[in-house]
Amino acid sequence: MAHGSPRADYDAIAPFYDSGPGRAKALDPELLAFLENRASSDAPWLLDIACGTGNQLIANRAAVPEANMVGVERSSGMLRQAWQKSRNIAWVQADAAALPFPAASFDFISCQFAIHHFQDKAGMLREAFRVLRPGGRFALRNLCPQESSDWLYYEYFPEAQRADLRDFWPPAAVVASMEGIGFATVSMDYEHLHFEQDLPQWIEIVRRRDTCSQLLAITDTAYEAGLRRLERELEQGTTPQRRADHLCLLTIRGDKPCS
Ligand SMILES: C[S@@+](CC[C@H](N)C(=O)[O-])C[C@H]1O[C@@H](n2cnc3c(N)ncnc32)[C@H](O)[C@@H]1O
Repeated sequence: MAHGSPRADYDAIAPFYDSGPGRAKALDPELLAFLENRASSDAPWLLDIACGTGNQLIANRAAVPEANMVGVERSSGMLRQAWQKSRNIAWVQADAAALPFPAASFDFISCQFAIHHFQDKAGMLREAFRVLRPGGRFALRNLCPQESSDWLYYEYFPEAQRADLRDFWPPAAVVASMEGIGFATVSMDYEHLHFEQDLPQWIEIVRRRDTCSQLLAITDTAYEAGLRRLERELEQGTTPQRRADHLCLLTIRGDKPCS
């Protein structure tokens, strides 16, 4: 792929990205928790790495109208979408592992649903640490494939599970890497989402392959096989129309020590 991730071409997806399921963002609770205990009353500097179409920073504006916000992103197509939505945030095109900012520039850095795309994950973590101010916090949020083995996407598209287990580091490896880089008080939380999936609705989402990078990371043959199986089971009534589903999200956060 031309733009960074071997899993998905985000320049091609960009115009449709926000119409996919689960793209809307609420205020980031990690940012709120950080601000609650922040000693300084100066306007904070916020960075979102791999900001996509900018939804997280735009949602955060309500909590910190005075904040200086920067979104960094590899895909110019995704940045174009962000820029059309907000002109009071700096949208910067760069690789997550080569951030074009001086050391100690930001108070709070987020990186959401993107680490599996990065070729140089350790490089991104090192860069986040470098550009963070002493006393600042980095918060990483992702799907956790190691805890999501019963996710319906993996049942119908087992190649996607193998790709995810290859492309996401195990949580303990992320924590160890962050601690090795110098982050302090590194902690993590799992969020287990249990819900009911309506299969006739889900198949329409699955047919729009670009709604989910799990479907883009697999071969056409594997995608077609999973889709045909789902169609067949629904036609023949060999699967219930509503199925219990589960996936796990993971947040890992760490602080840059003050001295
Ligand atoms: C699934 S999207 C997530 C976007 C956004 N963070 C969100 O939560 O909606 C993954 C994003 O990572 C970006 N990306 C992939 N590799 C990158 C890299 N090496 N550096 C910066 N951004 C990258 C993609 O272009 C894409 O916008």
